[in-house]
Amino acid sequence: MPRGIFITLEGLDGSGKTTQIERLAAWLRRRGHEPALLRQPGGTATGDRIRQILLDARTAALAPMAEMALMFADRAQAIAEVVRPALDAGRIVLCDRFTDSTEAYQGGGRELGSELVLAMHRLVCGGLQPDLTLLLLPSLETSLARARRRNQRVEAETGASEGRFEAEKDAFFRRVWQKYREIAAREPDRVAVVEGDLTIGEVHEQIVEAVAERLLATG
Ligand code: TYD
Repeated sequence: MPRGIFITLEGLDGSGKTTQIERLAAWLRRRGHEPALLRQPGGTATGDRIRQILLDARTAALAPMAEMALMFADRAQAIAEVVRPALDAGRIVLCDRFTDSTEAYQGGGRELGSELVLAMHRLVCGGLQPDLTLLLLPSLETSLARARRRNQRVEAETGASEGRFEAEKDAFFRRVWQKYREIAAREPDRVAVVEGDLTIGEVHEQIVEAVAERLLATG
């Protein structure tokens, strides 16, 4: 059975991942692919419940270790329910965040360290690695400004705050940003970094270039 292609999108809050994943999915569909889409945390019925706990502003006292374990619980469910079956069927899987997010946010942001996160990943995810990771990393200043604007909009629209992560201090995001940089430097073959303050169209161009290369490489 041919294995599909596993592609993940990563970046800070407000980096435009959601827009880009939709545009990439449309691009793939025009070329005859039927990608499986999911986001983390969430993407399954169980995962959506875990997501509620994680993003609820009232859960602010969640211990970093509990937060990390919940991220992996969500991921284990997503792998079993969505990712593995789709890859086994030869499909392309597009996942909005994966273990790099846990390494960046819990490992870097919450200072649990990379080693612990990567050990957990080996145990829980059975070593499943993305074939390609698209890391959207505009300047830290731009990322922070976008995240704040988005959070204010969500709060105004829903009256609720999903903004526990966005509400963290700049130092937290600086550590997340730094850890993403570290991951990209460590695994240049897997991680394609889209950097600089580009337009939505320019980011899309760079993304499809990286994906097209990968599709060609796997035939
Ligand atoms: P979400 O609303 O999906 O944000 P975005 O659209 O920016 O992806 O919220 C996900 C939040 O959860 C985001 O702040 C990053 C955080 N997160 C972690 O801290 N660790 C993880 O392992 C994952 C998957 C997400």
